[in-house]
Amino acid sequence: MTASNFAAYLFPIVVFASGLLHWRVWRILEERFPEVVVTRRILLSGIALLSALLTVWAAASSLLLPMTASARPLLWTVLLWHGALLTGVLLLRRRVTAAGRQEEFHAASEVDTERRDVLRKGAAGFGVIVFSSPLGNISHDDDYEIVYKTVRLRRLPEQLAGVRIAMISDIHSGPFMAREDIEPYVGRINALKPDMILLPGDFIESRNEEIEVVCELFRRLQAPYGVYGCTGNHDYFADADHVSNELELAGVRMLRDAHQVVDIDGESLALIGLDDVGPGASFLDQFMKASRGLDPGIPNILMCHKPYFFEDAAGLGLDLMVSGHTHGGQIVLARVFNTVVTPLAIFTRYIEGLYRRDATQLYVTRGIGTVMVPIRINCPPEITVLTLASS
Ligand SMILES: [Fe+2]
Repeated sequence: MTASNFAAYLFPIVVFASGLLHWRVWRILEERFPEVVVTRRILLSGIALLSALLTVWAAASSLLLPMTASARPLLWTVLLWHGALLTGVLLLRRRVTAAGRQEEFHAASEVDTERRDVLRKGAAGFGVIVFSSPLGNISHDDDYEIVYKTVRLRRLPEQLAGVRIAMISDIHSGPFMAREDIEPYVGRINALKPDMILLPGDFIESRNEEIEVVCELFRRLQAPYGVYGCTGNHDYFADADHVSNELELAGVRMLRDAHQVVDIDGESLALIGLDDVGPGASFLDQFMKASRGLDPGIPNILMCHKPYFFEDAAGLGLDLMVSGHTHGGQIVLARVFNTVVTPLAIFTRYIEGLYRRDATQLYVTRGIGTVMVPIRINCPPEITVLTLASS
């Protein structure tokens, strides 16, 4: 297939996906705001129609017609518009799913399959639009970045200075992360010769059998002070107990509201791991359970899939928290100094990299997998190497 044929093939898909997204937003507005008066509906219809026309124009500019300088701002506008629509749909979906993780899964898979289906199609449309526009660097499976970071901890004994911790997160084994996508990370991490390896959650996308290939590969991971993991929200989309048990059999010590004190050259380092803190669950309750019996004087690292609880961790005076979950935004529109411009910023300020609050630090890794759409833009997969140092 030639490039022009491919573009001609893609064009109707882009327009169709955009139409689906707009249709879904319209349905949500109708359902949620039935009291909205007719004149406002007409206004909204006008906006939707204008957006649809701009989408067709933008898609044609990037796919069918020679790209001109004036088309570039239009592409940005259309991209941001679709991002805003998608975010709105996701926000409403979050509200629907607040009743609990199990209900979320069943509601999404059984009760409201139409909503899930349309959401996926809309997201795919958004991804196609992004994919088809010359706005960013699209990452391929072998485009991962190794991020080296020195983390200075206030009370780290000299013997622990220089300890190297490798970390990958959000594997999302499944339709878009197959064996050949995951395998290179295993060899690369081993080649880095870390002292220990942390795996803070989302091993699978949503099905029990997806853990098999992860276990087959991760049993090769090597680190003298161990390989540790905790669960993420996607591990609960299947049977998290099954996922964890299989990982344990593969040599990954799963810390599920539990801790492990590691002896390194006669000094202790505490690893605390939390199960995914789901809707209605309490970070503090889970932490208290996980740290029961742990000497608070030992330097500690908390593994918690979601970074949203960093303020709580700082309030507890923890030394270091490590998280994934955000995928670094996955689709990053721009980086302005240290600020990552991504739709995800609506949900959290902790998107990627190192953060500090009082004496506590948080490192958020971008992970290696994807969610919703199987692409990353301006946001390559990450292997993290943290080197501990005294402050
Ligand atoms: Fe994830």
